Amino acid sequence: MLQTMKMHLTVLTGASRGLGAAMAEQLLKNGHRLLTLSRHTADLWVVAGSDLEQWTADLVDAAPVAAQLEAWLLAQATRPLASVTLINNAAALSAPAPLHESSADDLSRALRVGLEAPMLLSAAFLRATAGWAVPRRLLFISSGLGRRAMAGSASYCAVKAGMDHLARAIALEQAGLANGARVASLAPGVIDTDMQVQLRTADPARFPEQARFAALKTGGQLDSPGDAAAKVLAYLARPDFGQNVTADVRDA
Ligand SMILES: NC(=O)c1ccc[n+]([C@@H]2O[C@H](COP(=O)([O-])OP(=O)(O)OC[C@H]3O[C@@H](n4cnc5c(N)ncnc54)[C@H](OP(=O)(O)O)[C@@H]3O)[C@@H](O)[C@H]2O)c1
Repeated sequence: MLQTMKMHLTVLTGASRGLGAAMAEQLLKNGHRLLTLSRHTADLWVVAGSDLEQWTADLVDAAPVAAQLEAWLLAQATRPLASVTLINNAAALSAPAPLHESSADDLSRALRVGLEAPMLLSAAFLRATAGWAVPRRLLFISSGLGRRAMAGSASYCAVKAGMDHLARAIALEQAGLANGARVASLAPGVIDTDMQVQLRTADPARFPEQARFAALKTGGQLDSPGDAAAKVLAYLARPDFGQNVTADVRDA
């Protein structure tokens, strides 16, 4: 008799480059059904047994994307699945500078992509999958800067601190439910991506820690996106995922 293979379903934001693209690549090597959401698509290799759908979506305006995601997830409910996961990975840095020298548009964009979108997408994900009898995981990609403040990056610090506390509150809500989602907000370490380029090439007069970020690169202290992705996905696969709601791959 032909048996239907149960796939792991993962929704991943910000998969077009950096950490997200590396996670997408690794998930597709491991038999996942993957839905990605970014403004651009990525050139990803889909191995046999995996499945990829890429949406081009601007998460500055996440409400319609969240509604579309909720409808899409509801339509997946009849498929034989092994688990369902949302990884909120996309983020946008505002130009490194003191808050009072930053533009309102830039600050607003960082908040909306980094915090409003994960909140709306998570609400849609939790609602649509509420009755599913498979493991449900919700992962927020946070940062050490959600836990340590840094001058010149107030919006990013606020986004990531907000994300950590959002995760704590959702974890409390889900803990009381039958098959509640397991939730974690995970700092992924420092990674050699476009985001680091933005920090180390910033104007030192407006961003006091520019030299420290330049030294991370010259000192070879950045993880490759592939290595960081492997650490994040290993953390996601741990049986105790969700026990520590705020975590850091460097302590794992
Ligand atoms: N790099 C680090 O050292 C580091 C350290 C700590 C935490 N993190 C966190 O790790 C995650 C990934 O960072 P990264 O370094 O890989 O960043 P990155 O290279 O700058 O990539 C950011 C991703 O977010 C997407 N994105 C940005 N604006 C978007 C928008 N308006 N709508 C939809 N998607 C958008 C981008 O896709 P499009 O441009 O195609 O839209 C891209 O795929 C972020 O949450 C970041 O805060 C990174």
